[in-house]
Amino acid sequence: MLPANPAFDLTGRLALVTGSGRGIGHAIARGYALAGARVLLNGRDADRLEAAATALRAELQGAQVRAVPFDVTDAVAVEEACEAIVADHGCPDILVNNAGIQIRGPLTELPIDDWRQVVDTNLTSGFVVGRTFARHMLRRGSGKIVNVCSVMNHLVRASVAPYAAAKSGLGGLTRVMCAEWAPHGIQVNGLAPGYIETDLNAALVADPDFTRWITGRTPAGRWGRVEDLVGPAVWLASSAADFVNGQVIYVDGGMTAVI
Ligand SMILES: NC(=O)c1ccc[n+]([C@@H]2O[C@H](COP(=O)([O-])OP(=O)(O)OC[C@H]3O[C@@H](n4cnc5c(N)ncnc54)[C@H](OP(=O)(O)O)[C@@H]3O)[C@@H](O)[C@H]2O)c1
Repeated sequence: MLPANPAFDLTGRLALVTGSGRGIGHAIARGYALAGARVLLNGRDADRLEAAATALRAELQGAQVRAVPFDVTDAVAVEEACEAIVADHGCPDILVNNAGIQIRGPLTELPIDDWRQVVDTNLTSGFVVGRTFARHMLRRGSGKIVNVCSVMNHLVRASVAPYAAAKSGLGGLTRVMCAEWAPHGIQVNGLAPGYIETDLNAALVADPDFTRWITGRTPAGRWGRVEDLVGPAVWLASSAADFVNGQVIYVDGGMTAVI
């Protein structure tokens, strides 16, 4: 049998995936562990995270998975976590800014605290976590950063103002990170999922009218699954994507390609 293509191998790399106790982040973290990476799971709930790390170690015998709980909206906690991670494990080779939330509501009624919470979690966290870890990557001269964006970088619908603004901003931030850090050996790209079945969309998945609309609107004819993001996330984190920089890659079953 031919060996697997080494360009996609992540053996020995250290990957930190924010918001990876469940959902898309967890699937990406699991995919990185399967590709050989040492993985750091992040989220706010230390117990849930520890349980997720234990389960992943049990499932993937030999996988090196650790829990590093911190809140990505707390700049002081991010600094402290970064120092502890670098001291305990070394500087991550791969950072995925995945943590995100959604709060839907009409623009005129949306409480400003909801706006701030969505923008802090989906956009400002990318700035804070990204630059905190990038300082170490810059000193080393290598690193891969994947910012989890959305089809809402490109397409919107009513009721998603803070989310669409934050994810569009994250696309812009991705390009600036590329402009500043690419000369120092760092690749920064966006990964933009379409509509994926996770807790974030539980209310929409449960709504048959919305599901009919989504499956009709998506050329692939179905909701996305968390596994759909894994291959592209491994590719962007691997040396196979060393000359891919500043791009937002849509993984949406074709949704953004059609009207
Ligand atoms: N599902 C979709 O259709 C879809 C589409 C496009 C983009 N996305 C993006 O994909 C990413 C993952 O979404 P998902 O669908 O997997 O959502 P999810 O199942 O709700 O998971 C969200 C994750 O983010 C973590 N998180 C939230 N706030 C956090 C904070 N302040 N600090 C640290 N972790 C935090 C959560 O952990 P705890 O709650 O345990 O802290 C959880 O692990 C998000 O950025 C989302 O915007 C999702």
